[in-house]
Amino acid sequence: MIELNGITPFAEGGNRKCFVHPEKPDKCLKVVHPGLLEKITKNQPWYKKLRSKSSFDDNLREQEAYNQKSLKRNDQIAYKHLAKWYGMVETSIGMASETELIKNDGEIAQTLEDYLFSKGLTDEIKNSIEEFHDWLRENLILTKNLIPHNIVIKIEDNQMILKIIDGLGSKAFFPLPSYSDFFAKRYVERRIELMWSRINWDLSGRKGNWK
Ligand SMILES: Nc1ncnc2c1ncn2[C@@H]1O[C@H](COP(=O)(O)OP(=O)(O)O)[C@@H](O)[C@H]1O
Ligand SMILES: [Mg+2]
Repeated sequence: MIELNGITPFAEGGNRKCFVHPEKPDKCLKVVHPGLLEKITKNQPWYKKLRSKSSFDDNLREQEAYNQKSLKRNDQIAYKHLAKWYGMVETSIGMASETELIKNDGEIAQTLEDYLFSKGLTDEIKNSIEEFHDWLRENLILTKNLIPHNIVIKIEDNQMILKIIDGLGSKAFFPLPSYSDFFAKRYVERRIELMWSRINWDLSGRKGNWK
């Protein structure tokens, strides 16, 4: 079992604490905030309570998402814009997902959100976003809504490559294992459209509803 007590997470999202793996500096361990699952299920209306607690666990949902049809090929292209998945491991503070920690020159990579807030929508990042969108379309990768703080920037050969580190999967009720390409195409186009809405909303001071 991996000991995480006494180790400070390098980041925290709304759902999970993120740690550098104590034995493998290129891996990331994510543990769902303790008590979060209990809190979520307690506050859900009765009909949602019928769903099992595990359906709210981000790590378990992410594990299913990495099993989606388009990633089964497991080749380099399918993973070009995605942190690699290494499975679930037991730690002293609960089950963790183990994924590739995205770094540049030893430093943990910057999120797309941080980049946009500091530099704005430069031509360079616009190209990277468009290249990322082409990859989503060509490979029909299913994601939840793509939010700039769930994407980090990896520098490869002086190019900025966007990597999804959170949000792979689909909105509830889209059947991950059995979708048709026809619906997947429409679904992916909508995620791309909403990603631009979200970026524009972030950049314009977050007024109104981003969708
Ligand atoms: N694999 C990773 N490589 C680099 N940074 C990461 C990675 N995973 C998460 N992060 C950083 O940690 C933050 C929170 O992680 P995230 O998985 O989004 O947590 P949550 O599920 O709570 O939203 C991200 O916004 C990002 O800055
Ligand atoms: Mg997140």
